[in-house]
Amino acid sequence: MRILGIESSCDETAAAVVEDGVSILSSVVASQLATHARYGGVVPELASREHLRAIVPVVRLALEEAKSSYSDLAAIAATMGPGLVGSLLVGLTFAKSLSFARNIPLIGINHIEGHIHAAMLDSQVDFPAVALIVSGGHTHLYEVSEKFSYRLMGKTRDDAAGEAFDKVAKLLGFGYPGGPVIDQLAPYGNARAVPFTLAKMKGNVLDFSFSGLKTAVLRWTQVRDLAAEIQARRDLLAAHPRPTADEWRSATPQTTLDLLASFQRTVIEELLRRAVAAAESTAARSLIISGGVACNTGLRAAARELHLPYPVHFPSPALSTDNAAMIAAAAFPKLARGEFTDLSAAATAGLALA
Ligand code: KG4
Ligand code: ZN
Repeated sequence: MRILGIESSCDETAAAVVEDGVSILSSVVASQLATHARYGGVVPELASREHLRAIVPVVRLALEEAKSSYSDLAAIAATMGPGLVGSLLVGLTFAKSLSFARNIPLIGINHIEGHIHAAMLDSQVDFPAVALIVSGGHTHLYEVSEKFSYRLMGKTRDDAAGEAFDKVAKLLGFGYPGGPVIDQLAPYGNARAVPFTLAKMKGNVLDFSFSGLKTAVLRWTQVRDLAAEIQARRDLLAAHPRPTADEWRSATPQTTLDLLASFQRTVIEELLRRAVAAAESTAARSLIISGGVACNTGLRAAARELHLPYPVHFPSPALSTDNAAMIAAAAFPKLARGEFTDLSAAATAGLALA
């Protein structure tokens, strides 16, 4: 049973063919990073135009690499939300057209459900599970049942974790996206140098907050004269858009490396503290951590060092960031249940899971 997955919720145009929900026959991702990097973040209008340009060749390549034709497909799965509505519309409308023209059932997928299913593409997950989805747009904790029903346990009250990485990086002249750069530089800093504290929450103790930490970083920068080092990094970026870790390091004094390491440590502690509390409160048999921030090497190491009594599943980095294999994987149980989506279904920017 082959499913063609299509993903276009943010700044990646992706298509993949997945067989029986687990084996990836192809996974093509066209990144728009180069388009958005110079604006310091994703520009929605540019994103939809780039999706329009990429969607046909990306889908064609995914089918070619999977040695599949339309007649081999049991379903076409596409992200319906959450995400940028103009971006979602491109992938979803394209999927609907294919579904209509080729008479192949359509399955609309929630992007977050896709991130959860990414973990099942490269490991065996025991249920019930708790899933922490951490990306540029989300920081959500779900309880996941064996039959893939979802209960929201906690979420960020302000910024998503990836957004906090991106904003801190931008503030210091590291360009966009900031997560990978901070991840590369953090090992060179002292993670205890700046005593950031974890957010204290009233109400749901499984909610997250990163705005206090972001403000603390801003205050740290305001009492120092960083103009020269920030300019040096901007010059580095202007010279070429992808500086190496060594180049960034040579443009970053030790005090700033210490700040980055301390910031990253605090985000990791915030994430793991709540994820572990959620897993304990539900007697989960596994913990899934997925989404772009799940690529963070410090987060992966810290999770390992906790020696939790249940496995922690991080999808491989290529499956942690946005891709379409996870969308096709999430559609497989729906195909088995005959849960199809009507062609009138709309792309929904704030689509909720659960
Ligand atoms: O899942 P994703 O590709 O797209 C969204 O759905 O948002 O996640 C992108 C986010 C960005 O905020 C980026 O800075 C962050 O994931 N990110 C990382 C790392 N790689 C990507 N954050 C921390 N460490 C990383 N290695
Ligand atoms: Zn995502």
